[in-house]
Amino acid sequence: MRRKVIAGNWKMNMLPNETIGYIESLSKLVKDTENEVILCVPYTDLFYALMTAQGTNIKIGAQNMHFEEKGAYTGEISAKMLKSINVEYVIIGHSERRQYFAETDETVNKKIKASFANGLNPILCVGETLEQRESALAEEVITKQTRLALDGLDDELIDKVIIAYEPIWAIGTGKTATSDDANNAIKSIRNEIRKLYGDKVADNIIIQYGGSVKSSNAKELFETSDIDGGLVGGASLVPEEFAKIVNFNN
Ligand code: 13P
Repeated sequence: MRRKVIAGNWKMNMLPNETIGYIESLSKLVKDTENEVILCVPYTDLFYALMTAQGTNIKIGAQNMHFEEKGAYTGEISAKMLKSINVEYVIIGHSERRQYFAETDETVNKKIKASFANGLNPILCVGETLEQRESALAEEVITKQTRLALDGLDDELIDKVIIAYEPIWAIGTGKTATSDDANNAIKSIRNEIRKLYGDKVADNIIIQYGGSVKSSNAKELFETSDIDGGLVGGASLVPEEFAKIVNFNN
């Protein structure tokens, strides 16, 4: 059986002193969970998060990275830099980066490859807009994003990727996909993986749901057949609320 992975995406929130206090609180609240717990924090919080999370079951991730290892890319951070301070995960291709920072399927693919080349575990985000959903294009969009993101990756790395299905219309809007809709979308991503890489990879790969996940809907979403946990934005900013989501099955 696949494990459940619950990741918080703080986006552009939280200062170092808040990070320390948050992780001290959260670590006490989630210490007994069997689920994997990840916090993806701003670059300026990474060091503090890593120090505070030492000796706990909380893993730390970044929210983006550049695909080149080093060079004249003012303002960018590479996978090698993240790995050098022991960051374990990195979100790649979040819809906010695709929308506001010109991220494309091609740069997402390069970033996935660079993350593995440097020993980081990518959390790949895919998801359709409201317009695409209303035009019955959701499945086509998310399977294509998945295919292009993983293109050319060594087969043995595919099931190390965590995929987060995040319908754009559900992010930060309070509108959650129904558990059936989210589960069906995730099944279609898993089927695409099955077609491309076979049963073993498809049955092992972790696919999360993201978009207005809260403690009141986490259990219903995460207990479906194919949703393997969540990528949580707003509700991950308060440790008590995020802990309830992590502990959805306790
Ligand atoms: P919300 O949980 O705030 O809707 O954000 C989801 C998200 O974008 C996580 O990456």
